[in-house]
Amino acid sequence: MPGPTADLFADDALQQPAGREQIGDESYVLRGYALPWIDRLLPALRGILAQSPFRQMVTPGGFTMSAALSSCGALGWTSAHHGYRYTSLDPRSQQPWPAMPDELRELAVLAAADAGFIDFNPDACLINRYVAGAKMSLHQDKNERRFDAPVVSVSLGLPAIFLFGGHERSDKTQKISLFHGDVVVWGGVDRLRFHGVMPIKEGLHPIMGPQRINLTFRTAG
Ligand code: SIN
Ligand code: FE2
Repeated sequence: MPGPTADLFADDALQQPAGREQIGDESYVLRGYALPWIDRLLPALRGILAQSPFRQMVTPGGFTMSAALSSCGALGWTSAHHGYRYTSLDPRSQQPWPAMPDELRELAVLAAADAGFIDFNPDACLINRYVAGAKMSLHQDKNERRFDAPVVSVSLGLPAIFLFGGHERSDKTQKISLFHGDVVVWGGVDRLRFHGVMPIKEGLHPIMGPQRINLTFRTAG
């Protein structure tokens, strides 16, 4: 007769590796995954931002995005009146985007593998900076040339509520709290799901200060 122990092992949550939460058929939140990497990530991030500082971009519709952006890797994402696109040069400096540091790439590749996506080979990492009140409207990541690679998202600093929707803009969204060091991976059948970030609440993170920084790794080219 199944006792309390059997019930315990029947719990879906316990069949996941520690700290891995499934949010879609091929999507996971890896809680605290980036924490052991932070000491290596932050100097790498500082180097990138010295070369390609955060800037506020304008959408094709003429709105200024509330999150400020930068990129590293062979390709960087840009938005302007002409539309969204990946470029190999930072339009601000007319120089190539900063290279993707090994420690960033390794973190992304390992997280992807832990979510079931082996051989992830990111060539673009978008860096979003949110201060209090900044948000990201629901959108699909669809400026990449192919969709067979996942998106790997690393959250740093202030907490956020991540909205994870479906394949239609009007689909119901899951609200997922993301904290410093959490990594989200979505790919495969979930690759084109709508997602966004609710306005960031004011706060002061002990390491990152009054902001949230999010890194999203993609294979764009
Ligand atoms: C994005 O969708 O580009 C950013 C997501 C996030 O900031 O968590
Ligand atoms: Fe996105």
